[in-house]
Amino acid sequence: MLDDPILMNDWHPVTEAAQLAYTPIVAVRLLGEDLVIWRAGETYIAAQDLCIHRGAKVSLGRVADDCLVCPYHGWSYAADGRCVRIPAHPEQTPPAKARLQIYPIRERYGLLWVCLGTPKNDLPPFPEWNQPGFVSAVCGPFAHIRAHGPRLIENYLDAAHFPFVHEGVLGDPKQPTLGEFEARITDAGVESDPIAVYQPDPYGGAAGRVTYTYHAYRPLTAHFTKHMPGATNGMMLTVTPHDLLDSTAWFVVATTARNDSAALKEEYTPRIAEIFEQDRAVVESQRPELLPLDLQAELHLRSDRVAIAYRTWLRRLGLRFGTA
Ligand code: FES
Ligand SMILES: [Fe+2]
Repeated sequence: MLDDPILMNDWHPVTEAAQLAYTPIVAVRLLGEDLVIWRAGETYIAAQDLCIHRGAKVSLGRVADDCLVCPYHGWSYAADGRCVRIPAHPEQTPPAKARLQIYPIRERYGLLWVCLGTPKNDLPPFPEWNQPGFVSAVCGPFAHIRAHGPRLIENYLDAAHFPFVHEGVLGDPKQPTLGEFEARITDAGVESDPIAVYQPDPYGGAAGRVTYTYHAYRPLTAHFTKHMPGATNGMMLTVTPHDLLDSTAWFVVATTARNDSAALKEEYTPRIAEIFEQDRAVVESQRPELLPLDLQAELHLRSDRVAIAYRTWLRRLGLRFGTA
């Protein structure tokens, strides 16, 4: 397990909740730990993916009577992690030690979130979620990213790269300047003023000046509200840290520009994928891979104010994962 107390006690997205409607068991790695997620009726359960008997991966088993059944010798584990049946000894009550390690799990924003330790925070907010006039959808996962979460989040908080990485869609190299803005650290994390930028083809809105108001609510979860001519988008990026250099990105979108969630997902997923692959190429190339929290380590200009606040905040929190 990757030892970072901040992330250990934080919530991380592990799968889209809808996934459990198609497959009763999902295996996922989180912070170097193999997890199994299963559904018992309406309840989701997260556990260490390790059978106490001989160490087989229980995620290779099946769900029967709301229990997870190990593929090797058929031990059955109930929703509280207890082994309730050992088929080779049907008359015997399984010993108290025979149990799976269970972790807290919650469903929100269409995702399932797991905490490997003791949750120190509520799930990150998403101001536009379930607001009248907005419809929302999960877009992703974008998996196997060879970059650390903090580099990905910082990229998300950076409006100055749009004209160069996302030319013709989110920016125009002939109009590369940002409006004036400040960024600050609050009790809720990092927030910026609305940052004005010209966009030739913003999702949902018409070409023109748009504004981004950024938040980093958690070290690996950021959000912006984008006001465009004719529409408003709220968008969350949250990163699953699987291993040191293996991340998955999830985008949750809420917009006033559409009125149907399924259509929104279908339409936005390829658009976000196109933009994200442009970002991925740059972020995976960054060296050092660890985000330097010492502000002397890289050059910082006025247009980097959100990144400066983010790095300062991570340093205050004492985040070790993905940082130097
Ligand atoms: S290893 Fe799981 S039942 Fe034996
Ligand atoms: Fe980008």
